[in-house]
Amino acid sequence: MKPTTIANEQKLIWRMRGTGIFEDPNDLCQVITACGVICAYGLSRKASGTRRYFWLAPMALLALALVYTHSRGGMLSTLAAIMTLMTYKYGTRVAVAGGFLSIPAIIVLGGRQTEIDLEDGTGQDRIQLWSDGAEKHRWILLPKGTRIDTSDMDNWIFPEGTKVWKEFRRDGVRVETRLFQKVGPGEGDWVGVAYVWSADQRDAIATPEGATDALGTAHDVPTAGQCTGCHGGRTSRVLGFSAIQLSTTAPPGGLDLQGLIAAGRLSDPPSGDFALPGDETEQNALGYLHANCSHCHNQHRPASDGPRCYDPRKELDFGLYVDELGAPERTGAYRTTEGVITPGDSEDSDVVDLVSKRSGRKHMPPLGTELVDEDGVELLRNWIDRM
Ligand code: HEC
Ligand code: HEC
Repeated sequence: MKPTTIANEQKLIWRMRGTGIFEDPNDLCQVITACGVICAYGLSRKASGTRRYFWLAPMALLALALVYTHSRGGMLSTLAAIMTLMTYKYGTRVAVAGGFLSIPAIIVLGGRQTEIDLEDGTGQDRIQLWSDGAEKHRWILLPKGTRIDTSDMDNWIFPEGTKVWKEFRRDGVRVETRLFQKVGPGEGDWVGVAYVWSADQRDAIATPEGATDALGTAHDVPTAGQCTGCHGGRTSRVLGFSAIQLSTTAPPGGLDLQGLIAAGRLSDPPSGDFALPGDETEQNALGYLHANCSHCHNQHRPASDGPRCYDPRKELDFGLYVDELGAPERTGAYRTTEGVITPGDSEDSDVVDLVSKRSGRKHMPPLGTELVDEDGVELLRNWIDRM
């Protein structure tokens, strides 16, 4: 069987972060536009005679490059530059008319692409799965013209054809990129696989069998079968791209709940962001448990469609749900944890004991981590001791 590579998969992505020195296609557009203006100046210099038509060649190349960035913002700025030149040469009326006529072209050429990036100081650091300190980036592709069914705000149902990626960098090396995609209309119609990057970092190869210590780092890559061990724990199957996790302000180029609402991508848009209850410690602890524990420990787990070994009993629920955000005490982390959390006494709480180790018969989370998240443990201790 011919292995699929991430390069084949990513033909479909238009906008992705990390294109060489330009982190964002919009930055590249600025440079293209600036060069275009210089060329236009050259072209308009009658003194150069017919030689000035030489400038048409780089201009055509720049135009092509602009189209390939699929950046609507970049095209708009080019349009603004052209309109300024036209106003100068032909007067305002012609310039405005030309501007209006070009707008449909921008909509077609600019494409529509959503990109997510929950990192970079969005304050979401604690609403993230601990992955032994790996740096993570995420992207989503929603098929054109589709919406996410948000009629159940706690369990978004994604349209067929949705693709989500998550990339892991460990010790500065890009190790793996996971692809999770919805291949049919049913809730469980998701398939996932991890792609492991080559040593030269140019391409990545589908690795359904997983890998240990990939690329010489301490990073382990899960098998395709293990994806459902965690992702099968919620009806949505997507774990981090949710109303609660996206209630943040994304850095430029990233996506947050407001961005999704503005783009018209939610079937039932909420009226605003969802704030977590309590003070900072409580919010951080609740967010931590939601992101790290609730995909297994929640009372709404769908019937298992993957390996059952990580299917815990349903009494515990560490999940956050939009109608339980009124006060910390209303959340599952308080209501369902009698016996495993002793208020005021972290030493006597099983939760702290289990998250503080990675060896022995039982530790939490049981999968996907070999190092203790010291900051996470400290956070849970503080939270419980102050209860
Ligand atoms: C140990 C549990 C676990 C395993 C195993 C796991 N994931 Fe995830 N995954 C998560 C959690 C939790 C999130 C959301 C939080 C985050 O990304 O930090 C997530 C997020 C993702 C995302 C970003 C979209 C989303 O759901 O938020 C992708 C893509 C992804 N995983 C793909 C995969 C694939 C493919 C596999 C199998 C090769 C896999 N995962 C195995 C727990 C897991
Ligand atoms: C990959 C799935 C998975 C994840 C993620 C996970 N757990 Fe568990 N957890 C289990 C399983 C399986 C058991 C053992 C079976 C059982 O007793 O229900 C368990 C048991 C427990 C228990 C003991 C329950 C008891 O009755 O004694 C606690 C407490 C616990 N987990 C806390 C956590 C915390 C806190 C986190 C997050 C830091 C977490 N778990 C993350 C699957 C998971």
